[in-house]
Amino acid sequence: MKRSPPQRIVITGASSGLGAGLACAYAAPGVMLALIARDIPRLTTVTAECQARGATVTAAGIDVSDAAAMADFLTAFDATGPVDLLIANAGIAHGTDAAGGLETHAQATRQIAVNLLGTINSIAPLLPALRARRDGHIAVVASVAGYRGLPDSPGYCASKAGVRLYGESLRAALGADGVTVSVIVPGFFVSPMSGRFIGGQPMVMPLAATVDRIVAGLARGQGRIVLPRRLGVLLQITDLLPAALGDAVIRRFRFHITGS
Ligand SMILES: NC(=O)c1ccc[n+]([C@@H]2O[C@H](COP(=O)([O-])OP(=O)(O)OC[C@H]3O[C@@H](n4cnc5c(N)ncnc54)[C@H](OP(=O)(O)O)[C@@H]3O)[C@@H](O)[C@H]2O)c1
Repeated sequence: MKRSPPQRIVITGASSGLGAGLACAYAAPGVMLALIARDIPRLTTVTAECQARGATVTAAGIDVSDAAAMADFLTAFDATGPVDLLIANAGIAHGTDAAGGLETHAQATRQIAVNLLGTINSIAPLLPALRARRDGHIAVVASVAGYRGLPDSPGYCASKAGVRLYGESLRAALGADGVTVSVIVPGFFVSPMSGRFIGGQPMVMPLAATVDRIVAGLARGQGRIVLPRRLGVLLQITDLLPAALGDAVIRRFRFHITGS
């Protein structure tokens, strides 16, 4: 269902890449943005860009894996005026390193803590208020990596499969309550995160086009935004193959992640 332009917007992971791009895209006079990330200097730069576009900005240096801090901030922000769009975007990526070593236990579990639990921490505190108002729009940023496990990023794939299904479940649950939920499922797009992926990036999209497609999809109230759709379909088909055949297909797409 088409939605009116959002006025009070929360974006996690707003200091870089997609989150920063979305913040700038929504920044306009009359818009109140709550931008969350840990890196204060980068968040300050994005804040200034959004203010220059006329938005009012509350910047919060919070780690999304800190459930209590997220709940405190979100409920306080919502109390000053109802949130009408909440984009849970913050994420990290680890995986096979340049020497071929698998991600460590700490890296695998940290991705679950930030990507999956951080998404839940970003949404759950506001669910009672959104349901009571029978209004509002929640968007989660998953990944096509959540359709089929990739050999070089098990923790990331597990976290994004969880994010995708958390969003799909919420959409099914909350539609009847008047709350819109959009599950964003990107393939590769250009950002500091993907700049660390060394290997093929099939169908990689420019950041600006990714932002535009997401903003347009959210304005339509689209329940699922897969971009590019072909890559999502390919990975879903791979997941339907017998395990050994699917593994053989997916092993053609190996990469490593610098800084892992
Ligand atoms: N790039 C791709 O090709 C691609 C593809 C599919 C899905 N995605 C997903 O898209 C989303 C955005 O990715 P991106 O490419 O824009 O990455 P990015 O440029 O690395 O930005 C990630 C953002 O998440 C924030 N973040 C990371 N850990 C955090 C934490 N613990 N608490 C709060 N904020 C945290 C970072 O801010 P601080 O470091 O300041 O905390 C940063 O603002 C992620 O969920 C990613 O998994 C990306």
